[in-house]
Amino acid sequence: MKFFIDTADLDEIQEASEMGVLNGVTTNPSLMKIAAERAGQSLDFHEHIARICDMVPGDVSAEVTAVDFDGIMAQGRALAAIRDNVVVKVPLILDGIKAINALAQEGIRSNCTLCFSPTQALLAAKAGAAYISPFLGRVDDISSEGMNLLQEIIHIYENYGYTTEVLAASIRHPMHVLQSALLGAHVATMPLGVIKKLLKHPLTDIGLAKFLGDWDTFKQNQAG
Ligand code: G3P
Repeated sequence: MKFFIDTADLDEIQEASEMGVLNGVTTNPSLMKIAAERAGQSLDFHEHIARICDMVPGDVSAEVTAVDFDGIMAQGRALAAIRDNVVVKVPLILDGIKAINALAQEGIRSNCTLCFSPTQALLAAKAGAAYISPFLGRVDDISSEGMNLLQEIIHIYENYGYTTEVLAASIRHPMHVLQSALLGAHVATMPLGVIKKLLKHPLTDIGLAKFLGDWDTFKQNQAG
């Protein structure tokens, strides 16, 4: 399973990168807004994406803000020209599906975002998206079951051998990661806080404290 970090904050990307478990980055307009606010300055979108691409060898999703075919194509081409590892994030709307197909014919990879139904995901795969991003947490937010959506997408893609990678998005906690992994999602994108929570276990902390305490006692006994 590939791990992507869901942020545009360079410090967070650096920290996750240093853990050695990072395979890519996903950004969106809201995450760009947060990154600029934290940095306390305006950020040039293309320059910022270039900086992220230079920090992470894997795929970096950068989202278009146009919602018409020509606009998505123009923005998509410009984003793809930044670095080879840019993946153009395109919303799951009619002109978005058309653009995903046209971008694929130009050799430009896309991440189809804002997916909330398996039939949307089927369209994205047929159009040639490199990734499909079902938003698990936001489905849970409306008292539905995000994991059912993920399971149905994976099942449909396996039925027909689609190569579109399933990218579990809007992940809020470690159980989302565990369940996505059990279902076989190709990628999970998550905030830094969730990546860190994956390693925490109280028995690890208790066990380590006992080992270190016993080691101190052992050394004192040796010295005596
Ligand atoms: O990857 C999509 C993600 O940024 C959305 O997450 O928590 O805003 O639903 P959230």
